[in-house]
Amino acid sequence: MERVVSPVDGGEKKVQTIGIIGLGYVGLPTAIGFLDAGFSVWGVDISERTVEMVKRGENPTGDPDLDNIVPQPGTDNWNITTNAAEAVPNCDVILVTVPTPVTIDLKPDLSFVASAGRTVFESIKANSNTIVVLESTVYPGVTAETWVPIIEELGLEIGTDVTIAYCPERFNPGDPARGVRQVARVIGCPDEKVGARLVSLYSQLTCEDVRYVGAIEVAEASKVIENVQRDVNIALVNELAQLFPEIGVDVEDVLDAAATKWNFHRYTPGVGVGGHCIPVDPYYLIQRAAQVGVPTELITAGRAVNRTMPNHVAKIIHELLYQNGVEAGLGKALLLGWSYKAEVGDPRETPAEPLAASLMEKGISVSAWDPHINDDDFPENITVIDDIYSAEGFDIAILVTAHKACVELQWERLIGQMRNPIFYDGRRVMDLQLLQELGWKTFAVGRPIK
Ligand SMILES: NC(=O)c1ccc[n+]([C@@H]2O[C@H](COP(=O)([O-])OP(=O)(O)OC[C@H]3O[C@@H](n4cnc5c(N)ncnc54)[C@H](O)[C@@H]3O)[C@@H](O)[C@H]2O)c1
Repeated sequence: MERVVSPVDGGEKKVQTIGIIGLGYVGLPTAIGFLDAGFSVWGVDISERTVEMVKRGENPTGDPDLDNIVPQPGTDNWNITTNAAEAVPNCDVILVTVPTPVTIDLKPDLSFVASAGRTVFESIKANSNTIVVLESTVYPGVTAETWVPIIEELGLEIGTDVTIAYCPERFNPGDPARGVRQVARVIGCPDEKVGARLVSLYSQLTCEDVRYVGAIEVAEASKVIENVQRDVNIALVNELAQLFPEIGVDVEDVLDAAATKWNFHRYTPGVGVGGHCIPVDPYYLIQRAAQVGVPTELITAGRAVNRTMPNHVAKIIHELLYQNGVEAGLGKALLLGWSYKAEVGDPRETPAEPLAASLMEKGISVSAWDPHINDDDFPENITVIDDIYSAEGFDIAILVTAHKACVELQWERLIGQMRNPIFYDGRRVMDLQLLQELGWKTFAVGRPIK
């Protein structure tokens, strides 16, 4: 990604200093984006490692788009600290970009939103009317329900000392064409004037539409349903990928045929969804719906389909190995890619992990190669391959992540390293005909195996 620096012109009432709380996949590019747009930036993170790396001008995330754009030490208007109390009093607007994961029982974990909010509100100057914007993905109601009690407890007055708002982040990591400076934004705020001020602020960050949508809850709900929609759409093709092979039809042929109709939306099946958004955010809406007693059968079913996809694929792999004479308990699988999505070194919620666990439960040992993932980010029970062309003795190679490095492997060379030349395309991106010509026995998600 290239940085486009566009200094702010001298407008009448310009916001000058922006604070970003949480310098992860979302917060760091946002901070850099505001710096490039001509603002003074304070970046805060509780992680010493993150702060030290950012201070040194290094990229602490697995998003390669950030590799060469982290500002170098000594850059003007670029202040990085672990201490929110040092940063907050300098800022006109503070953006909170902290994680919103789910707990082990799949309930929203709002502890980061609460604790980051508290550290910010504790340091706000009286009468400063500092604007604090939550950017993390949440269900409708979280910003006010979580932050207003803290604001009241601290004796701050809304509209005088602080105003809260919500503006979800929508950029796509690993996709330089949809970075923080290229995506449309929506803003929810109970104070219309502050909403207009935020529209003006974000319009200097992004070249796309920035829209005030009224209530915070509208903006919160809009973000969560974007990811719910993707989860449900992907779940539909994943369910079809389980059905059609059983009736002798390749799901991709069916989808190609259906896509000739003007209003058919084409999605591609795969080994499962991952990352910090799609497998997580639907649980936020499910929780909110449960609170008001409304069933979410479709959303819940979509989640269940995508969640079980790695097990489905593991079952097929097990069957394939059996059909090809690999004795039970002796199979060796090579996973190509571990990250949840192509070109990003992000292992969060990757479907590779439940896929590997399910294969191992079936007695198949698992090795994995992913040039974007650090060795430390693999689970301990996975054999990590550093040099793909020196590994050997596998019974099946499974494409898990469509990294260019995986798709463009020297397949004619890799086949020589296999004990059995079986290939399974878990992303439907390979030219299977070509691989067959090289001697591979090819299989794919959604394709009949007989
Ligand atoms: N990653 C994405 O693609 C993406 C896209 C759109 C929206 N989102 C949403 O944005 C939010 C952030 O996601 P992310 O991927 O950047 O997470 P992340 O884990 O990469 O980064 C969050 C950062 O916040 C820091 N942090 C946690 N508590 C803190 C505190 N109290 N004070 C200061 N720093 C704190 C963490 O140390 C971490 O560096 C989530 O709600 C996510 O759903 C993510």
